[in-house]
Amino acid sequence: MIGEPSPLVIAHFKCADNKFCPDTNPDGKINFGTAENHLMDDEMLEMVNQPLSFSAQHIHYGQLHGIPSFRVAIAGFMEEILKISDVNPDNIVVASGASAILESISMSLFEDGQGLVVPTPFYTGFIHDFSTRFNVKVLQYPLSPHNNYELEIDGLKKVIEKAKKDGIIVRAILMCSPQNPLGITYSDRKLEQIIQTAKEYNLDIISDEIYARSVYQGQFKSMLEIGKDYRQHIHFVYGFAKDFVLSGFKTGVFYSENKELVSAVQEIAYFHPVSNHSQRFLENLISNRTWCREFTRKNKTRLFESYTMITDLFESRLDIKIIEANAGIFVWADFSNYMEDQTFEAELKLFDKIFNECHVSIIPGQFFKSNTPGWFRVCFAQKEEYITTAVKRLEKKLAQ
Ligand SMILES: Cc1ncc(COP(=O)(O)O)c(C=O)c1O
Repeated sequence: MIGEPSPLVIAHFKCADNKFCPDTNPDGKINFGTAENHLMDDEMLEMVNQPLSFSAQHIHYGQLHGIPSFRVAIAGFMEEILKISDVNPDNIVVASGASAILESISMSLFEDGQGLVVPTPFYTGFIHDFSTRFNVKVLQYPLSPHNNYELEIDGLKKVIEKAKKDGIIVRAILMCSPQNPLGITYSDRKLEQIIQTAKEYNLDIISDEIYARSVYQGQFKSMLEIGKDYRQHIHFVYGFAKDFVLSGFKTGVFYSENKELVSAVQEIAYFHPVSNHSQRFLENLISNRTWCREFTRKNKTRLFESYTMITDLFESRLDIKIIEANAGIFVWADFSNYMEDQTFEAELKLFDKIFNECHVSIIPGQFFKSNTPGWFRVCFAQKEEYITTAVKRLEKKLAQ
């Protein structure tokens, strides 16, 4: 419901009010709940603190869906860095965050009550973005830990068929690759099969690729590139919050070759544009390809180190297994051994215990619509001392 902050938001601000610092607040809260990357803060601050030059046009109203030079820079970035061919800057819309973009799609692409199929566990914001203000029916396709969260095409089809039987018009499939919260990328083959399914049922695909440059093992390939012959129906979502650690800059990117949809999303950008100041900064940043490549190289190395550390410590100290990951800033970890029983109530109780007694925030799977209790998302993109301290606290309290 609008106006009621979610427990995740409450936990985020409680962490912010009493932040752990090894030197000045060693008992403070450690936030492994919010999907933010803190491994590259120094490198980004160096850029953010450099002076920017502006001309008069930048201090006045401009095109609210993104200043043209920024959209040209984004098109170049998508082509050269994300390896997406033939990107037309006129099809790009910039808005204040990927969330704003997702909501604009929900308003423009769907009629009231139409369905959107999404594999779960999924990023909790999807429900908010698609159904708080607009009545898109989010149809969950539950993946299971029993087969390592494998996305099976038959399962996907069953959800579409069932919705049709229930009289729901299914409009699109929403994919998130790299996936939040599982921290995995889907293979090209799997993405091809999903596109094939979309073709078969005449569906669009919304492809949230906000973690595209946070793949620390293996390669990223965009859905737009894999489904080139179906591009009219694939709508791409990106943002600067994750790969560029700029969650506070609230800048999201939309790309589609469906002209009608582009113009609708452009119109809606009027309500949540990005300041010209941020756009100028980001334009300079992504136009510096050498810097971009070096930043990402360092980021991936650090993500991989933190991933390895948390995985090893969880296994050796806590006997907690994770789903093997290769991308993103989180792991999906099985805490079920620490629950009184295998229920979602017990999962919530464990969340409270970990938050209030260990002063560590991790997010229970029920908030991601997990169908099996006991799984938590743990955001590990934090410096070594944060990880070792969190694990020590968990070890001390959970064993009791
Ligand atoms: C998959 C995914 N999409 C969208 C968003 C929202 O991004 P923004 O902060 O740019 O609105 C997030 C943030 O966690 C996310 O993980």
